[in-house]
Amino acid sequence: MSELVRLERQDGVAWITIDRAAVRNALSYDTLGELGAHVATLAADPETRVVCVTAEGDKAFCAGADLKERKTFTEEQTRAFVTRIGDTFTALAALPQPTVAVLNGVAFGGGLELALACDLRVAAEGISVGLTETALAIIPGAGGTQRLPAVVGMARAKELILAARRVPADEALAMGLLNRVVPASELRSVAQELAAAIAANGPLAVRAAKAAIDLTQSGDSLDDRLLAERALYLERVLPSADRLEALAAFQEKRPPRFRGV
Ligand code: COA
Repeated sequence: MSELVRLERQDGVAWITIDRAAVRNALSYDTLGELGAHVATLAADPETRVVCVTAEGDKAFCAGADLKERKTFTEEQTRAFVTRIGDTFTALAALPQPTVAVLNGVAFGGGLELALACDLRVAAEGISVGLTETALAIIPGAGGTQRLPAVVGMARAKELILAARRVPADEALAMGLLNRVVPASELRSVAQELAAAIAANGPLAVRAAKAAIDLTQSGDSLDDRLLAERALYLERVLPSADRLEALAAFQEKRPPRFRGV
């Protein structure tokens, strides 16, 4: 059986690639199963320092749920799909490594929810993005209603979701929904440079910093989050060999050699 989602790993950077360009990388039940399996593999991989998520072709990053498959589903099967897509994106968002959505084309519906489950989003010029589900008489139910407001603010999120608006890349950049917009020909190299810049830093520190930032979404009080931030520092990074290596490298005026311990 041919792969629907590929996983490649090199030099501490993992690339997850959805390989269904003919249907604009739409997410079928089985595609989500493969995506989830790759996410589980990476969650347990200490060698992977950054995860990039992209797709084949230049038309779409992901056109959302596979609507042709959906048409064949019973209500029961649709429930199973909604559960799987939500759980898969939650697992992606919970990866300990930083994640970068590399938008080679449009991202609509579940496609943008997939990108929102990543930490950063870089996109090719000329694409558009949107949580367009209400136009199909459904809601963004794979984290979109929660993650979009956290990124762009409540009022903008409500406009985008309630009007099912397709937002051009430059506007999405201006509202902070995209981190960077670059010519399509440079997308891969820009993403690789960004991934390399993250992968060059102390791996335990990068994971701890991501975990600390994500505490802002925990619903805990500020006092509790500040204590949790300190615990991450004192318990995870302070005892690390990499911290001492960084100090030694600074003194010896050489680049540090981090080992993730
Ligand atoms: N599910 C299943 N198949 C899809 C799909 C989806 N979400 N989106 C596109 N496809 C299929 C089309 O049916 C078409 O297949 P066909 O050749 O058998 O007819 C093929 O992909 C190409 O689509 P097309 O619309 O011709 O390509 P395009 O490049 O002109 O436009 C999109 C791409 C993504 C802008 C457009 O297909 C679209 O708007 N799709 C729906 C997006 C959406 O509403 N997603 C929300 C889902 S919750």
